[in-house]
Amino acid sequence: MERFEGRAAIVTGAASGIGRATLIRLVAEGAQALAVDLSEDALELATVAANQAAGSGGTAVAHPADISDEAAVAATVSGAVERFGRLDALCNIAGIMRTAHTHDHPLDVWEEVLRVNLTGTFLMCRAALPHLLESRGAIVNCSSTSATFGHPWMAAYAASKGGVAALTSTLAVEYAKAGLRVNAIAPGSVETGITQAITFPEGIDASLFPRIMSPIGPGRPESVASVVAMLASEDGAHLNGATVRIDGGTHA
Ligand SMILES: NC(=O)c1ccc[n+]([C@@H]2O[C@H](COP(=O)([O-])OP(=O)(O)OC[C@H]3O[C@@H](n4cnc5c(N)ncnc54)[C@H](O)[C@@H]3O)[C@@H](O)[C@H]2O)c1
Repeated sequence: MERFEGRAAIVTGAASGIGRATLIRLVAEGAQALAVDLSEDALELATVAANQAAGSGGTAVAHPADISDEAAVAATVSGAVERFGRLDALCNIAGIMRTAHTHDHPLDVWEEVLRVNLTGTFLMCRAALPHLLESRGAIVNCSSTSATFGHPWMAAYAASKGGVAALTSTLAVEYAKAGLRVNAIAPGSVETGITQAITFPEGIDASLFPRIMSPIGPGRPESVASVVAMLASEDGAHLNGATVRIDGGTHA
């Protein structure tokens, strides 16, 4: 499939996990993609992998940047448009997770999670909107099942992801008649950097763990990236304002 031939995309969080798999998938399907992440070395490697897998016209360009920095976001979006001459898809995948008992959740950690996951997604959407309205393109944001299903010890993370889902449906209606589509994915447990690095606070009640476990085990980043690609492509033409749960049946 070459669903993105002649199309330009930005993928955030492209150095690792779901963002990396999304970058590779889009470029394999012909996208010209700006790959954005904080982690420069891993981003370079992801870009090389995407270019090795590139389909007709596909190319990946590394652009290290912090999505929670307003000026860096503006430079990222204008850089993509200058380089590719257009912007058709914005895949906001970058995110961080922190865990804590909510009764002693540090405020600075709360603010860090909200700033990256929610404000960062907003900043990227705001900067990209004029270009996506011109191309009648698509945004795919990254929520989480934690936004809806009560995952313990993840208050800031869940709140940020609930915010992303709300932002998604708001933009979907606000710009629907202008031809833009805005959807989100809500993954459950996926084998990535976030899940490898996760630690839980002392004294948790392990009997609550089944809430966040899939009956068929954790997903692969590629199985999530394929849904992102569908939402960003013409195959998702009648999907707008949806938050698509991808959790192997955890919350079915
Ligand atoms: N892995 C899961 O189980 C799971 C479940 C639900 C949702 N998610 C979401 O999926 C998205 C991707 O995460 P992942 O699981 O692939 O983890 P990951 O850690 O492998 O990838 C996240 C990437 O985001 C980048 N990033 C973090 N802060 C950034 C910033 N300020 N600016 C630019 N880049 C930044 C990181 O450097 C990293 O490369 C996240 O939004 C995460 O919340 C993951």
